[in-house]
Amino acid sequence: MTEAFDAVDLIRAKRDKRELSTAEIDWLVDAFTRGYVADEQMSAWAMAVLLNGMTRREIRDLTLAMIESGERMSFDGLGKATVDKHSTGGVGDKITLPLAPLVAAFGVAVPQLSGRGLGHTGGTLDKLESVPGWRADVTPEAMRDQLRDIGAVICAAGAGLAPADKRLYALRDTTGTVEAIPLIASSIMSKKIAEGTGALVLDVKFGEGAFMQDPALARELARTMVDLGRDAGVATSALLTDMSVPLGLTIGNALEVRESVEVLAGGGPSDVVELTVALAREMLAAVGQADADPAAALADGRAMDVWRRMIAAQGGDPDAELPTARETEVVVAPRSGVLTEQHALPFGIAAWRLGAGRARQQDPVSPGAGIELHAKPGDAVKEGQPLFTLHADEESRIPRALEALEGAWTIGDEAPAARPLIVDRIA
Ligand code: URA
Repeated sequence: MTEAFDAVDLIRAKRDKRELSTAEIDWLVDAFTRGYVADEQMSAWAMAVLLNGMTRREIRDLTLAMIESGERMSFDGLGKATVDKHSTGGVGDKITLPLAPLVAAFGVAVPQLSGRGLGHTGGTLDKLESVPGWRADVTPEAMRDQLRDIGAVICAAGAGLAPADKRLYALRDTTGTVEAIPLIASSIMSKKIAEGTGALVLDVKFGEGAFMQDPALARELARTMVDLGRDAGVATSALLTDMSVPLGLTIGNALEVRESVEVLAGGGPSDVVELTVALAREMLAAVGQADADPAAALADGRAMDVWRRMIAAQGGDPDAELPTARETEVVVAPRSGVLTEQHALPFGIAAWRLGAGRARQQDPVSPGAGIELHAKPGDAVKEGQPLFTLHADEESRIPRALEALEGAWTIGDEAPAARPLIVDRIA
């Protein structure tokens, strides 16, 4: 077969800040997926994109080409509107767990294809796998049935969605090119659009526990993804949220499931409830239910009913005891005052070192490991009062977690200024 373009020309073009045509981008992604364009060529091209950017049209073409590299799911004929949520990830971010059943309680289908965690941000599937019996693998037929009968599915994405993205992401991970906004936006949106959802709400996080720390860059990422969704005919909006402090009072798989169940029972920490309700409102408005009251569905048990059915449909026992770690270590306040700082990133790293996360894709996680917070910034604390509890299966993990937490929290005399959790909406 005669190739239409030459990879070196396309690398040089991006290096020299030239806009690529639709045909050039289509060829590049297709030839990379076929193995004709070598990994080192694609990596060089990704670096040129990181340095020089892409136009809105180029980003759209890249996204569509990555969708075309694999299969596209469709939920047509389900008789329900579909809406999905994607978070760019953060420390203690368990929102998908209460959110999917909450939105499904309004008769909407929520197909939530999720991943496992790598590094200090946990994966939704790892969290749910701490529920005894629960399985992440669901066939496309079973997924459809569950969406029709229950409304919410949280499951593993099959390998067939946007395979070009999978290969490109692996290269980016090892070549310092993860941070390019056009590449992040097209990576996330190619998978979400291929998944066949009718509407999409994005939770784009900034702050030190987030993957995009700078608020201005997080805003640019949100804008880029919202535009991509629109261009592809998916009603898309984004909330820009602060991830400087861990979300809620738990970090770690089973601990986060327990907290999510508290939210579904009408309780739970106020920040988790606030974000769950705000995202639910966005999702319901996107499918024509702007007047729906998600807080009421948390309070009256409707969301909990869907959670129980969703867990049971995937083999899980919603009444089973959740696993707990063998060892705990309580850290207490060395003086009385006000907790002024609690930095998300070191808490995420500490939870990961305790066994809640994995360093390599193939590593197991420890379901009971993690951190329980007993105070949040702004809370008054007394000398000797527990500040947080570390949970691990092996005692030997605790010293390294404590090391990560050195300087991660501060007790002062005056309450810090309150920081809004949700800073903007981008649509
Ligand atoms: N998540 C993705 O799926 N892709 C990225 O590039 C970054 C985060």
